[in-house]
Amino acid sequence: MDQPLAGKKIVLGVTGGIAAYKAAVLCSRLVALGAEVRVIMTEGATKFITPLTMQTLSHQPVVTDVFDEPDASSIRHIAWADWADLVVVAPATANLIGKYAAGIADDMLTTTLLATTAPVLVAPAMNVHMLEHPAVVRNMEILAERGVAFVEPGTGQLACGYVGKGRLAEPDDIAEAVVRMLAGDRPLAGRRVLVTAGGTVERIDPVRYLTNDSSGKMGFALAEAARFMGAEVTLVCGRTEGKPPAGVTVIRAESAEEMHEAVMERLPYADFVAKAAAVADYRPAARARSKMKKDAERLTLELVRNPDILQAVGEWTASRRAAGEPAPYVIGFAAETGDLERHAMEKIRRKKCDLIVANDVSAAGAGFGADTNIVSIYDARGLVEALPMMSKRAVAERIWRLAAGRAAAMRGDGDA
Ligand code: CTP
Repeated sequence: MDQPLAGKKIVLGVTGGIAAYKAAVLCSRLVALGAEVRVIMTEGATKFITPLTMQTLSHQPVVTDVFDEPDASSIRHIAWADWADLVVVAPATANLIGKYAAGIADDMLTTTLLATTAPVLVAPAMNVHMLEHPAVVRNMEILAERGVAFVEPGTGQLACGYVGKGRLAEPDDIAEAVVRMLAGDRPLAGRRVLVTAGGTVERIDPVRYLTNDSSGKMGFALAEAARFMGAEVTLVCGRTEGKPPAGVTVIRAESAEEMHEAVMERLPYADFVAKAAAVADYRPAARARSKMKKDAERLTLELVRNPDILQAVGEWTASRRAAGEPAPYVIGFAAETGDLERHAMEKIRRKKCDLIVANDVSAAGAGFGADTNIVSIYDARGLVEALPMMSKRAVAERIWRLAAGRAAAMRGDGDA
């Protein structure tokens, strides 16, 4: 069997939630993938599954008590913290997340978490209302800002009877995140990535504007996936919903003109550009300085064309390449409501980008505001890949893998 985790040392922390039983499956997966796993259980975890289960699966002694020090020559929580290449906490309760964010160390797991300098991956599992509680949300933000990685909980039937988000991610998904973190699968390492996200805002007067339904989720997913794959990411955001991913540089740009300026300024430093923003094609010809009054029965708003940012990026890139200069690999998006292929091919030619990611925004499970997307990816010759409905994060990863491989081939780095 393929063992991408051979030689890797993982501390698996298990806390006291009903999902603790899934930690047993995760433990055996990690061992099967080649990892050496040492398990720490909180007292709460031992109410759900026994240390003997985890000891049998990990083939290692399990620690539950920070004061249980059988070896006088070493202090166990420090030794384990130093030993680990990665610490995984699955499931992580609200209590564990709160203590970790506050720097509390009152048991073996929390002391190890504070003592380790290894990367940490947290897989939360709790009731949907607990997950959405501002205290828990803030604690997770604090940890993410400190570089802790998360595996998103799933949505479905919860043990408490509620249906909602909060279920521990599947052991296979957690194991996959571990492999990504440890197995050096970072095709964008050392690359600079520029992503745009969200809808632009075109002001009519100080309180009114034209915008669109874009939530920014696809752009956020692209930024997060690129960072995860090793890139240094700049995210130029219009109007977006939710918080941008941690660990990326966020630049706010309200209008298409502002976004145009922000992108063109940073273009010479980018290795990849992904233009997921929904840029308004038109803006009001004039912007009223004070709030407009309703004097007339009819009002005609005159609009003028905005710059096409992707086209400007594509043209700049094409001229650099023609001159033999390095230029970024450019990924555009096409939001359509029908005739996907024809529109996508027309856009890739007109805007001179390397790839166009097209989606039918009128389809269920695709487009604005959704967490999933159904996309087809085209290059100048035609369809490259038609993806099934996938999370925007998974779509983002596929796009980057494709782009990283193609850009490497273009640079002559072989099949990187
Ligand atoms: N785009 C851009 N600047 C604009 C309009 C669009 O950079 N003024 C970019 C988008 O970020 C996206 C791509 O162009 O990557 C396609 O956007 P889309 O709205 O689908 O296409 P349009 O060029 O606006 O064409 P149309 O409205 O005719 O479909």
